[in-house]
Amino acid sequence: MKLTLKIWRQKNSNDKGGIQTYPVDNVSEHMSFLEMLDVLNEGLVLKGEVPVAFDHDCREGICGMCSMYINGEAHGPDRGVTTCQLHMRKFKDGDTIYIEPFRAKGFPIIKDLVVDRTAFDRIQHAGGFISVNTSGNTQDANAIPVLKEDADNAFDAATCIGCGACVASCKNASAMLFVSAKVSQFSLLPQGKVEAKRRVLNMVEQMDKEGFGNCTNTGACEVECPKGISLENIARMNREYLKASI
Ligand code: SF4
Ligand code: FES
Repeated sequence: MKLTLKIWRQKNSNDKGGIQTYPVDNVSEHMSFLEMLDVLNEGLVLKGEVPVAFDHDCREGICGMCSMYINGEAHGPDRGVTTCQLHMRKFKDGDTIYIEPFRAKGFPIIKDLVVDRTAFDRIQHAGGFISVNTSGNTQDANAIPVLKEDADNAFDAATCIGCGACVASCKNASAMLFVSAKVSQFSLLPQGKVEAKRRVLNMVEQMDKEGFGNCTNTGACEVECPKGISLENIARMNREYLKASI
């Protein structure tokens, strides 16, 4: 395939940035989107130009690093996949593809397609953990009964990879889907009940401090989330927050 790539280039966080056009050919339909960008970058390096900076690590849908906007959609046109799992067969020969960084006040751009998502780390540090006594008297986790439904819902919430697509697709740049997944994965389990109040209050407070907006139930986050995190988690977090506040 021959493609025209329109890519956001920005030298650093102070640079104004802008879209630049790059033709690429010899793109196989079997390549992943990131492999296609590798081909582009190899060509740029050979020409002595600066390669396009983009985040990636696992390249198998686990780490949540490969966050970018492709033709106006977080992680591109496929559903339930990250950018590294997106294949070029989703595009046609001759296509023009727009590639931009995630845009949100809480995710400042570092360079080109790379944004700073450490705000998510700080939210998790505020409460995304449990404190377990590991002195030797710890109760075996397998000896604590958990309803199957609760275990399944907690597991589903725990599949959030912190990619930030929910924030990027929300018109308010809300991080509620991410934060609610991180609250739910603990609040549904007995091990998470001990710090439940403190957790939800601290994480929501940190979320607000980081400059993320509020949820207005549009649901774009759920549609674009590569892990299918449900809006039910936001409802659960709101109930947890209300309980903890009174
Ligand atoms: S909720 Fe979904 S879109 Fe948001 S950070 Fe988690 S995995 Fe990514
Ligand atoms: S590179 Fe890890 S999820 Fe895409």
